Amino acid sequence: MTEIINIDDLERVSQLSIDKMTWDFWAGGANDLQTVAENKAAFSDYRIRPRYMRDVTAVDTKPKAELFGKKFAIPCGLAPSSMHKLAHPDGEIATARAAKTKNWPMAISSYSSMSLEEAKEAGRDNLLFFQLYVFKNRETSADLVRRAERVGFKAVLLTIDSPYLGLRFSERRNKFTLPRGIEPGNFASGRYAGPVDFSVEDKSKSKGPGTNEDLLKEAKPNVIDPALYWPDIEWLKSITNMEVWVKGVMTAEDAALAVEAGVDGIWVSNHGGRQLDGCLPTLHALPEVVAAVRGKVPVHMDGGIRRGSDVFRALALGADFVWIGRPVLWGLKYDGQQGVELAEQILEDEFKLAMALSGTVSVGQISKAHLTKKVAAT
Ligand code: FNR
Repeated sequence: MTEIINIDDLERVSQLSIDKMTWDFWAGGANDLQTVAENKAAFSDYRIRPRYMRDVTAVDTKPKAELFGKKFAIPCGLAPSSMHKLAHPDGEIATARAAKTKNWPMAISSYSSMSLEEAKEAGRDNLLFFQLYVFKNRETSADLVRRAERVGFKAVLLTIDSPYLGLRFSERRNKFTLPRGIEPGNFASGRYAGPVDFSVEDKSKSKGPGTNEDLLKEAKPNVIDPALYWPDIEWLKSITNMEVWVKGVMTAEDAALAVEAGVDGIWVSNHGGRQLDGCLPTLHALPEVVAAVRGKVPVHMDGGIRRGSDVFRALALGADFVWIGRPVLWGLKYDGQQGVELAEQILEDEFKLAMALSGTVSVGQISKAHLTKKVAAT
């Protein structure tokens, strides 16, 4: 048995015990996986400038500011991803419990394998964000929003990078479907029809994820609405008192439009490279977004974070908070709730050490002055 000392170990060990279809679903990204690789590689485009002789006996990893009135353990959270039961029978309940125990925030996907109500019960005030897709049938989305508000979610996190589903070769080849017994938890049984063919039980009949055109032709009720545009933020705000955040902002232009539209927070993301391949890595999008937002709303980001020193670098570039996607699934597969807690502990320890070795004792001290661009070899 391999000793798990970092996030890569968790990835390797979870791969050993998982079926190929699920593994490909998690690891996969759009087309050639260029963006998947670059999200991670972008962190080494920046090098840390450490400062010494600064008494780092006590290092406090807590975020600079509260998030919805709460101080979390570290400015890092569990990003929304679909179908946690693929990783473990306890699904999103295990993830939510791990968020609660380690005092990390969590966001849950519209496509969770357990209902948002069950997960909320387990995660309490650590489960903050309900991730939303706006479907062609707006009432389906409005209903999800109302349910999330009723059980006490603090924010609706609107994912804007998926007007159509990215083309993931492996999902298409594998004809990805859910195994028997696992289904979307937020939709009445058998009534779900979304971008991924989550609804087919008999694999021999599955067409796999299908093309966007097929889905639009069939006018399934839960197909994401490709007509979504900025004024729709007003519609969303009119149906809820929760904060409205947008996930998937990648440019200064869209950041400015989002602020103008009245969002309460911005989340820089390219969906972990699963949507537009060849898109810029999120770490490289972050500085322009931070500059455009000018402190008016918080800026969060995700994509490729695998080390505590990655968290450090994103914060130095101006992120208020960062989130991890795939490492949650690897932890969950490895050992359910405890596996997610292990991923959290690893990142927390690494982040604390990166802070100490850079001469910072509080998150507020992490600044641009701690980074330099990597110089190309001559
Ligand atoms: C995701 N992500 C995602 N995002 C979202 O807004 N709604 C969703 O349902 C999902 N589902 C999903 C499934 C799987 C298997 C993965 C890997 C990712 C994207 C996720 O929230 C996040 O943006 C990325 O995963 C972050 O990148 P890393 O940390 O995985 O590199």
